[in-house]
Amino acid sequence: MPFDPLPKTLTDLLDAGASRPLVALDLGCGDGRLSALLRKPGVHCFGLDRLPRVAGSRADIVADARRAPVCAGSVDLVVAGNLVRHLLPAQRDAAFLDDWLALLRPGGSLFILEDEPTARPAAAANYRDLQAFLARLWPVGRGPLVTLDTFRRRLPARLAALVVESGTGANHWPQDAAAAVAMLERGRPAPGDEAHRLAAAITARGLSCGRQWWCRLRTPSPTD
Ligand SMILES: C[S@@+](CC[C@H](N)C(=O)[O-])C[C@H]1O[C@@H](n2cnc3c(N)ncnc32)[C@H](O)[C@@H]1O
Repeated sequence: MPFDPLPKTLTDLLDAGASRPLVALDLGCGDGRLSALLRKPGVHCFGLDRLPRVAGSRADIVADARRAPVCAGSVDLVVAGNLVRHLLPAQRDAAFLDDWLALLRPGGSLFILEDEPTARPAAAANYRDLQAFLARLWPVGRGPLVTLDTFRRRLPARLAALVVESGTGANHWPQDAAAAVAMLERGRPAPGDEAHRLAAAITARGLSCGRQWWCRLRTPSPTD
């Protein structure tokens, strides 16, 4: 889901687009709500997703994010919101980040944003459990929520050396609990099934993103 509020360090970077135009790439853009937050004055943001627009995405580029058909060194800012966790199960060392960093101009930034798995409040625990449930249903295409610590531990030294900032914060982006319950009930789960338990828990205590984490990697610039 998109992130509200965006990390201040990211909004500061976007605000700089007003004085020097920036090219941004939103990987795994989905319905385009995060791209819309990135499109500030002077920021030319392109969305990339493996799903075409007819399937509900707002992608300008339809492609696998691990092989983005974008010129190396042509982008100022790459953002990946809730995408890394879907790629980590197949590539535990996060080597796909090398390809994303290669798209950046010298001194460009890569921002990873992810929902944080958390047990409190109950509505956020429901969100964490729902994502884990969906990841078990489709392990090739989805992953469970991961913590910032887990992500950073996975980074090989060459990537860890490029991390310049990271942090966590609240995420107030609203979730559609009724739609999640309807999706779970579409499979007509029997009492005792995980989907049945989750639908009951979401009905009783709601659904919310809880918190987010972010991590910024920066390519060296000639002035570094
Ligand atoms: C959880 S949604 C996140 C959407 C958006 N970034 C946001 O934060 O609201 C994950 C998106 O990543 C896309 N996706 C997953 N794996 C992908 C891949 N290998 N290449 C491109 N897009 C991918 C999915 O189609 C989906 O739209």
